[in-house]
Amino acid sequence: MEILRGVPDASAIGAVRKLNERRTAEGTRAGVSVLTFGCQQNEADSEKLLGLAASMGYTPVDDPADAALILVNTCAIREHAEQKVLSVIGGLKRYKERDPSVLIGVAGCMTAQEHRVALLKKSYPYVDFTLDPASLSRLPLAVLGRLSGQKRSFLSTDEPTLSEGIEPYRRAGDRAYLSIMYGCNNFCSYCIVPYVRGRERSRASVDILREAEGLVSSGVREITLLGQNVNSYAGDTDFAGLLSRLSEIPGDFLLRFMTSHPKDVSERLIATVGEREKIAPAFHLPLQSGSDRILAAMNRRYDTERYLKTVEALRAARPGIVLTSDIIVGFPGETEEDFEGTLEILRTVRFDMVYSFLYSPRIGTPAATMDGHLSDEVRADRMRRLLDLQTEIAGEIGKTYEGKTLRVLDDGPSKNDKARHTGRTAGGKLVHYDPAGTPAGGFKTVHIDRADAYAMYGTVIESEEK
Ligand code: 5AD
Ligand code: SF4
Repeated sequence: MEILRGVPDASAIGAVRKLNERRTAEGTRAGVSVLTFGCQQNEADSEKLLGLAASMGYTPVDDPADAALILVNTCAIREHAEQKVLSVIGGLKRYKERDPSVLIGVAGCMTAQEHRVALLKKSYPYVDFTLDPASLSRLPLAVLGRLSGQKRSFLSTDEPTLSEGIEPYRRAGDRAYLSIMYGCNNFCSYCIVPYVRGRERSRASVDILREAEGLVSSGVREITLLGQNVNSYAGDTDFAGLLSRLSEIPGDFLLRFMTSHPKDVSERLIATVGEREKIAPAFHLPLQSGSDRILAAMNRRYDTERYLKTVEALRAARPGIVLTSDIIVGFPGETEEDFEGTLEILRTVRFDMVYSFLYSPRIGTPAATMDGHLSDEVRADRMRRLLDLQTEIAGEIGKTYEGKTLRVLDDGPSKNDKARHTGRTAGGKLVHYDPAGTPAGGFKTVHIDRADAYAMYGTVIESEEK
């Protein structure tokens, strides 16, 4: 199937812009607010939605109460995520009641599922339109349709679309997301993503390079390349080739990427991560389970032996590389022995951090109809044991950083204590520190005074000129 570039409709943008300009002339600013749930891919999609809205004359605002256009970018990865999103959408009704001209749009993975769209249609009449992830660039048409009195629209497409020609609205700061591909072909048996984000399609490397060059020249210090499975990037080069080209952009910046699939980590990629200093010494490699039987049932297409070999090769190529992983606890049919296998791999690999999830059945995925669904008690007990073990390991790893001096990219004052800053090491580890009077942003040298399982704590000893 031909891949569409998904460039937004310029005449719809122009028409909405005119309406908003009229509004501004009358003294009311048209605000836009996007509420984002889920993964980094969604964060990046929200920046595109905001960018599109800005091109239509909307001004980004933080509080939906100040917005004429409210968008919710939804997640469908687990039941809990969907329930949370639905309750937030429910809470938006009051804005529409207060001002019927407010437009409410729902985007993202939830809206690519028929049963969810049916629910939004029936039980959430104040939702003006929905846009599935591949229909993102049709936001101007959806908005214009409603502003010109048309019926509510529920847009979804099976066509593989790239979102080109949209200038994302990025928050000021030293970090930026850059989407390199969309969709997933893997059909892990528990996962909804291939159904809601469609098949894999990669952006052209020239488009990615141009965007990265623009970011670096605007002062961005860290670019995170995004895709559901970046290792299977297939433009006019493979992912290792793309990383090499991006590393050649002049400037002082780091490259990160997410997410990788263990079955697709090639020797070439490992060698590239070893050779290129601009690639951050960090690798997120979702294991999901430490049991070969469960990995097969999950349709992951690697076994624990292969996984461990990849870890070894990464550590040999890039000593000290920070390794993180995802684990699903309580997949259907997971026995105590299977779960012990997962704990065993955690002990062997000693990940710096593990994101653990209770298995959640997703309608339409093969795992949802498998036998052997586990009780809440068993799943909760296993989750607790996994967290206890990982906290112990991460705490021990943290101790090895005490007394060291690390280069940290500063994110400015921390949320809870404005006198202190937070930042991340090249490996992506969180650091809280006394900025010692230095300004927010840029790279800093931080002495690590102490560390626990979750973060490091220290003091700035030097701040680099920006
Ligand atoms: N239940 C629980 N966790 C899931 N994940 C994906 N689908 C499910 C599900 N149905 C987890 C996987 C994936 C991460 C982003 O979310 O671990 O790597
Ligand atoms: Fe889901 Fe597997 Fe694709 Fe990741 S690789 S998005 S877990 S189907």
